[in-house]
Amino acid sequence: MCSVIGYVGKRLSCPLVLEGLKRLEYRGYDSAGFACVNSSDRSLSVQKAVGSVKQLEAQIADAGIDGYVAVGHTRWATHGQATKENAHPHLDCTKRIAVVHNGIIENFQDLKDVLVLQGHLFVSDTDSEVLAHLFEQYVTGASDTHEAFIRMVGQLKGAYAFVIISLEYPDILFVARRGSPLCIGVGKEEMFVASDPLAFAQQVEYVAFVPERTCGVVSKDSFVLYDREGMAVQTPIEQLEAEWIAVEKGEHEHFMLKEMYEQKQAIARTVHFYQSMKKGQVEETLGVTQDFLRDVEKIYLIGCGTSWHAGRIAEFFFESVTGVPAAAVLASEFRHRTFFPHPKALYIAISQSGETADVLETIRMINSHGLSTVALTNVASSSLVRECQGFWLTQAGPEIAVASTKAFSTQLTSLYWLAHYVAQIKGRIDQKQLIQAERELLTAGELLEATLEEYKHEVIAQDAPIYSAFNRYIFLGRHISYPFALEAALKLKEISYIFAQAYPAGELKHGPLALVEKVVPVVVFSHSDPVIYHKLLANVQEVKARDGHVIAFALEGQYELIAAADRAFVVPQSAPLLAPLVMAGLMQFFCYAIANACGRSIDKPRNLAKSVTVE
Ligand code: G6P
Repeated sequence: MCSVIGYVGKRLSCPLVLEGLKRLEYRGYDSAGFACVNSSDRSLSVQKAVGSVKQLEAQIADAGIDGYVAVGHTRWATHGQATKENAHPHLDCTKRIAVVHNGIIENFQDLKDVLVLQGHLFVSDTDSEVLAHLFEQYVTGASDTHEAFIRMVGQLKGAYAFVIISLEYPDILFVARRGSPLCIGVGKEEMFVASDPLAFAQQVEYVAFVPERTCGVVSKDSFVLYDREGMAVQTPIEQLEAEWIAVEKGEHEHFMLKEMYEQKQAIARTVHFYQSMKKGQVEETLGVTQDFLRDVEKIYLIGCGTSWHAGRIAEFFFESVTGVPAAAVLASEFRHRTFFPHPKALYIAISQSGETADVLETIRMINSHGLSTVALTNVASSSLVRECQGFWLTQAGPEIAVASTKAFSTQLTSLYWLAHYVAQIKGRIDQKQLIQAERELLTAGELLEATLEEYKHEVIAQDAPIYSAFNRYIFLGRHISYPFALEAALKLKEISYIFAQAYPAGELKHGPLALVEKVVPVVVFSHSDPVIYHKLLANVQEVKARDGHVIAFALEGQYELIAAADRAFVVPQSAPLLAPLVMAGLMQFFCYAIANACGRSIDKPRNLAKSVTVE
């Protein structure tokens, strides 16, 4: 995923820009670049590297460049390969203008054709380079710079967030956004501009989110933004939220550990965020009308990995709360199947990062049929938000560890809330029941934390040394606890590299039972429904009868299961559909402790990436 950053101010820019790029690095990229108005000779200095920000840093150190006005970029190749030529910043013909850009300029070819006729020379395959030449053509030397820049931006089609620096205007950052996010970090005698506040969260206290379809200029003491008609647009300057600043591990050994502990707050923040929405804002955000929600006939939940598991759990939320059939589909599979467009279906794309390529491609396919798509993501600035008709944000705060924890629990929170909201629109529940559902979510968050706290010392001291010695695991669940078992198996695989397979418990005797033996622990996630519970209990007996070793996540009062298991974790009862949310913290911690005992690289497991932007 691409990131842009700009700086203008009293400090030397290079360490600040590179630090910002590093903070966004975990998302993945393939080249990086930096340009500044060099303070020694007022020239424009540019460095680009294919590979890491560290490589870029080394190049800049060798080149000995720095200044007080700069831009930086990490690029994930879209138009053109990952080469130095295609890496940002891009320059104009005179090499006095540098641009960093996120997004896609859809009409770049038309603009480029005209610019080429006007004598401009292009050196890259990117759409972004057109911005530097346009600036050279239309803004440099204009009598009214602001007006000329507004006119230049008016020519652009597509999605963009960009920052331009120019030797002609050496104390200014020119910025514009449409579709792609951009925000301004406001400091004392300095300003940052970035695609994500994470980039400057440790440097300044305040942030202004650049409104959609605006452009403007930023200097070290002030900024001004304009709409398409050239009218000045006011935007509030807000205190940066603590969670964006605190993206350090702090006292925690791993980000994953920190993020597991943050779940109660993340769930509460997500609930409060939805509670604070004004009348009509939910539909507006989702990009649908109330009538559409009332008449919705099918809910599709599209995702990969953990997000798909959240979707599979949410199938139960939607079906039982709204009475609408729901189907969770794997993005990588769904897009290659025969597609049956359903005009009364809501297509919810679930993705923590909002950058997963398979999800984006699936959404593009669905969008091409003119259907209603919603991005359910943790990253407001993501491509998914840009490409879907509507969006629905979780409030987990930045998740850095590859293995998803608080993003998963806030996805569940978000989908549970949404199911109740839709049920209310459909007249199946009233306002009081929606408020009750919010309370259930807050309670589930508290129980998640309490359960984790209760067992964490035992898990580290007793369980992890024992269970890290096994090299195969079976996970079982039924109904809503089956997709949760899938998530648990994924978690264990991702971070410990131990082979784990999840089955619906009812399928045990249709094959997996052949695998049961002492050295293959069977982890069972219980259910509060008495019928389902007793069926699960029968499965546990089947395992025990084959000398199997059972680890049970039982609910309070499920004495037979607790007694039958070799190791039982007892989890408090909650709203029945929220048992997976309550169990999530302990399940994740159990996998984490095993992986840690195995000495694994927990936050960055081998072969995996946080943001999978390739198909
Ligand atoms: C990668 C990560 C998984 C994650 C999946 C989907 O494979 O390693 O942990 O669940 O991507 O990511 P998303 O950002 O779309 O939720």
